[in-house]
Amino acid sequence: MFVLILVKIGGSVITDKNVYRRFREDSCKKIIQTLSILNEDLIMTHGAGSFGHIIAKKSGFPKKFKQEDVHAFSIVHKDVLDLNTRIAGIMLEEGLSPISIPTQSIYRNGSPDLTDFKKYLSLGFTPLGMGDVILRAGMIKIISADDLLVALSAVFKPNLVIFMTDVDGIYDNDPKTVSDAKLLKSIDRNIAFSQVMNDVTGGMKSKYEKILKIRKHAGKVVVVNGNKPERLNDIGEKDFIGTVI
Ligand code: ADP
Ligand code: IPE
Repeated sequence: MFVLILVKIGGSVITDKNVYRRFREDSCKKIIQTLSILNEDLIMTHGAGSFGHIIAKKSGFPKKFKQEDVHAFSIVHKDVLDLNTRIAGIMLEEGLSPISIPTQSIYRNGSPDLTDFKKYLSLGFTPLGMGDVILRAGMIKIISADDLLVALSAVFKPNLVIFMTDVDGIYDNDPKTVSDAKLLKSIDRNIAFSQVMNDVTGGMKSKYEKILKIRKHAGKVVVVNGNKPERLNDIGEKDFIGTVI
């Protein structure tokens, strides 16, 4: 049915965003199992969760680069690579052939160089991108996996883009703080977004803005609960639980 699927595994699902470097291995494994049996071409990306946001926030990133930032920058980058290696390990166990494409090396100029994603995808690998810190024009910037999906979608024109997060989709209000928030099965522009704690890339609000950009290049964009990845099998069905944009 689908030819090329782009996925973001949110840091909110595969880590505990409130506890530094707490990996949720079981959730990650379940997601990758579900994706691997779809048997379609995949490009995967993942967020940093508590492997990135906590130290980045404590260090005031994003910001103008100062010499004293070197160590914290280095820690965030190393923690992101650690998370990436864990995910790649699970992908291998599940029969995929991941190849990690470092965000550091693709954001050299104004726009990201996606050549390696193209090359490895065409050879049968599953390219694996990641949210990370980068240094550019005297600034410490944070590239989220959502940013990567915006760039990747414009080039690859995927049939389907999947955002996996820790809630059932996009609601009319933050489901974690508003008890009667309603899940939007399809999108409405007047949504209230609350700032997620420990998130330096803008939480659901900025994700939604990026999704609107991605939508121009993708057949379909869905936001699903990464803790219930089996729901992906219901995309297109009436009882699909998630948000279709
Ligand atoms: P991820 O790490 O998976 O990319 P984020 O942590 O950035 O995701 O965003 C997911 C969080 O956004 C949810 O845990 C939820 O509490 C919060 N959120 C705020 N407003 C909304 C909304 N209107 N709909 C859904 N989630 C929302
Ligand atoms: C953030 O990436 C990268 C860093 C903080 C270094 P994302 O913004 O994609 O991560 P999540 O999904 O929100 O955790």
